Amino acid sequence: MSTPTPAVEVKKGLEGVIVDECAVSKVMPETNSLTYRGYAVQDLADQCSFEEVAFLLWHGELPNKTQLTTFNERERSLRGLSKGLVDSIRLYPKSAHPMDTVRTGVSYLGMEECSKDEESWSPKDAFKIPAGATLSNYDKAISLLAKIPTIIAADYRCRKGLEPIAPKKELTMSENFFHMCFGEVPHKDIVKAFDASLTLYAEHGFNASTFTSRVVASTMSDLHSATVAGIGSLKGPLHGGANEQVMHMLKEVNDPAKAEQWMLDALKNKRKVMGFGHRVYKTGDSRVPTMDKYGRKVAALKGETKWHAISDILKDVMLKQKDIHPNLDFPAGPAYYLMGFEIDMFTPIFVMARTTGWSAHVFEQAANNRIIRPLTKYTGPVQRSVVSLDKRG
Ligand code: COA
Repeated sequence: MSTPTPAVEVKKGLEGVIVDECAVSKVMPETNSLTYRGYAVQDLADQCSFEEVAFLLWHGELPNKTQLTTFNERERSLRGLSKGLVDSIRLYPKSAHPMDTVRTGVSYLGMEECSKDEESWSPKDAFKIPAGATLSNYDKAISLLAKIPTIIAADYRCRKGLEPIAPKKELTMSENFFHMCFGEVPHKDIVKAFDASLTLYAEHGFNASTFTSRVVASTMSDLHSATVAGIGSLKGPLHGGANEQVMHMLKEVNDPAKAEQWMLDALKNKRKVMGFGHRVYKTGDSRVPTMDKYGRKVAALKGETKWHAISDILKDVMLKQKDIHPNLDFPAGPAYYLMGFEIDMFTPIFVMARTTGWSAHVFEQAANNRIIRPLTKYTGPVQRSVVSLDKRG
């Protein structure tokens, strides 16, 4: 007689499960708020550069001037790609999605940097390396932060049959990204809107891609592998891929006069509307008002208000019909579009930002590691005996 399986509750999607402690960020659905290391994300977006936020996520404190200078100098010195990587980007299939090309580019970097164990750089007395990181691992995190934008921009230009543009050391990360994509730096308010979006996208607790990266890190694999896995997880439309789908949706609607009916039809057809809903926030996403504010500034500068007019109606109808709130991807999609980026670059831009959060979590995981290995409730056949091939009929 087989022993009855004890009743177990399956937490589908790991909903509500607390799997570890974390000091990087706090998501507070009860107040629709998010803090990085104790600072409200909207304050960081308004008052700090993305580079300062990267430092904060990794070190737990905002940098002083000396620390920021040392950090920026290292990041700016690592932006260039090897000839081998640029040549390989030229060979990527032109039909590939940029999330696949950035994933492949990071994987290539992992091969180049796997032997970068000799410590060729040190922050000297400017700051200490965070707990859980070695000097070489920390430097690899800066290298990923510095090179991922260069990979995305080079791939964008190669796909268009253009020559990649070399990074410039005198520019900030955000300015340099525009320079490498388009050959020019736009109005300072557009750069600020982009920079703020990177801060808003940088970190968000144990979301799917961060959890994926931590699972990889928990096996004591390497930072590049954890980042590649994070990119794979972020690509999905239920996670980072939603910012692209939002813009496809706005273009499908295309006319504010059609927006209400479009949403009513979508809901009647039980369509998942991209850019709405969240596993943790149920009454609003704290990042939305800040991204919306910057997106509208870009729209005003560009003299194009149609996308926000459509967005406003979609949001109102969704709230009235289902009480489901927009998430960060909803205002980010049209903002990136108005900045001039092609839709399939939106999620790679998210990667540029989230590499900071992934690395912070990889360091935190390593500082107090235990391999992540959950269980399942088995629902397959009961135990049985193998019948030899000639007797299986
Ligand atoms: N459009 C329409 N209905 C939605 C919805 C959306 N975007 N998001 C949630 N719902 C509905 C679900 O259909 C479900 O309704 P039901 O109870 O009648 O079946 C209910 O709200 C609960 O949603 P659920 O899918 O269980 O939430 P989840 O926590 O598993 O998933 C998301 C969260 C984010 C994956 C989900 O809201 C979604 O798919 N959103 C669209 C993609 C997106 O914008 N992703 C970016 C997240 S930052």
